[in-house]
Amino acid sequence: MANYDVIIIGGGPGGYVCAIRCAQLGLKTACVEGRDTLGGTCLNVGCIPSKALLHASHMLHEAEHNFAKMGLKGKSPSVDWPQMLAYKDDVIGQNTKGIEFLFKKNKVDWLKGWGSIPEAGKVKVGDEVHEAKAIVIATGSESSDLPGVEVDEKTVVTSTGALALGKVPRTMVVIGAGVIGLEMGSVYARLGTDVTVVEFLDQITPGMDLEICKTFQRTLKKQGLKFIMGAAVQSVTKQRAKAKVTYKLRKNDKEDTLDADVVLVATGRRPYTEGLGLEALGVTVFPRGQIQTNDHWETDVKGIYAIGDAIEGPMLAHKAEDEGMAVAEVIAGRKGHVNYGVIPGVIYTAPEVASVGKTEETLKEEGRAYKVGKFSFMGNGRAKAMFAGDGFVKILADAETDRILGAHILGPSAGELIHELCVAMEFGASAQDIALTCHAHPTCSEAVREAALACGDGAIHS
Ligand code: FAD
Ligand code: NAI
Repeated sequence: MANYDVIIIGGGPGGYVCAIRCAQLGLKTACVEGRDTLGGTCLNVGCIPSKALLHASHMLHEAEHNFAKMGLKGKSPSVDWPQMLAYKDDVIGQNTKGIEFLFKKNKVDWLKGWGSIPEAGKVKVGDEVHEAKAIVIATGSESSDLPGVEVDEKTVVTSTGALALGKVPRTMVVIGAGVIGLEMGSVYARLGTDVTVVEFLDQITPGMDLEICKTFQRTLKKQGLKFIMGAAVQSVTKQRAKAKVTYKLRKNDKEDTLDADVVLVATGRRPYTEGLGLEALGVTVFPRGQIQTNDHWETDVKGIYAIGDAIEGPMLAHKAEDEGMAVAEVIAGRKGHVNYGVIPGVIYTAPEVASVGKTEETLKEEGRAYKVGKFSFMGNGRAKAMFAGDGFVKILADAETDRILGAHILGPSAGELIHELCVAMEFGASAQDIALTCHAHPTCSEAVREAALACGDGAIHS
């Protein structure tokens, strides 16, 4: 048994970042993690492995579709799947070991095992009970169940199984056109799998700017992904090493089936708080499983805090990290702040999709007068040289003050470009501020400036 200032339960991006910041602020800190490696969902079975496979499959796509156009001739590479998985595992290993190194460097104790909270101020790991002045719950999330669908992580898989399939399937049905479905669907489509996405709603990636969604879906269709929209999946039945998906179209109740080698269930995630003992402690949990917290991430039990996927808000690694840093500041007696209005969201397909702030739909709902500045990557020389002219930058600014309210990008490096707009929004900048800032030529960032110019007197290259 040991006494700590802070014990964090969960070593994902919320938990490990919180632990490091607590230690940097002079608090005696431990982090409990039950997995064999640190880094949580994000490093082990989420952000990092999916981006490794997206990168590798994008390289293949470039070799197959664009190399010859640039005079790079020769046999296209073939897929050595075990090697691609080994590369992905190596990337995971480098990252998870990096967190272990950071823990040692910052003198954070890793308490290995699954933790529970027998009472406020105490954390039990295995047979040991440790004391802590503050406890932070950062236990993350898990895939949601879908009624009528039994996951075996081989034929019927969640994202975790989809990141480690025995072979590249010939056919795949993806249930859910959200972020996981489209990223993993893209990976397999590029590797040659016939991918059909079945989505309950009439639009993909619900909640995103509608114009972006529509163009994004068209782009994915051109890449070979098929979509069945407005379809409610009724069941998935396994037949030897294959599966049959039965769905009903919402518009006419017509039932149909699809056969596939692999079915990926990607219909959302829910907080994981099992075994912590929240009910006995009196910690309030919302009906959908999120832990309720106040503005300082404190639950309604004093000294017990919660962050990341386990609480409300977007389930994103950087949101969890920001909350981890902010709650550490609060526990150390300082002020902690997260600006929930400026949290970027990125889908790492090719082209990438990135957004921050309000969509046109939310501005209309709010009755706010706004203007739109748009610029197509077709007018951007650098994007054209990279065969990446599909897509556009869209900036939404207040009609009167010109203040940037939201930005949405479909195009090359959208996930990098969005941060210029995040910083601008944090500083309360106007579209003109961006338009008057010199942007290097030739860069994709010039498309952001052109969209800002389009909020005023007009873009130059359109
Ligand atoms: P987690 O990362 O889930 O970490 C929680 C940790 O707590 C886990 O390691 C778990 O083992 C541990 N734990 C749970 N209970 C206990 C206990 N009782 N005792 C000890 N340990 C415990 N987000 C992005 O921003 N960008 C992306 O590109 C992205 N890609 C993703 C791809 C996939 C396939 C998936 C599934 C998710 C992706 N996400 C992405 C989401 C991102 O992974 C999560 O938002 C993020 O990991 C949440 O961080 P967290 O610290 O709250 O929880
Ligand atoms: P999601 O919430 O993004 O998408 C789920 C989709 O499934 C929605 O379009 C929904 O309408 C649909 N759906 C729900 N029930 C259905 C049904 N019965 N039949 C057909 N479709 C149905 O969830 P997803 O993709 O599982 O991702 C979970 C979380 O992981 C997200 O919150 C996301 O933030 C995070 N993530 C983030 C990534 C990133 O930032 N690049 C990458 C991957 C995941």
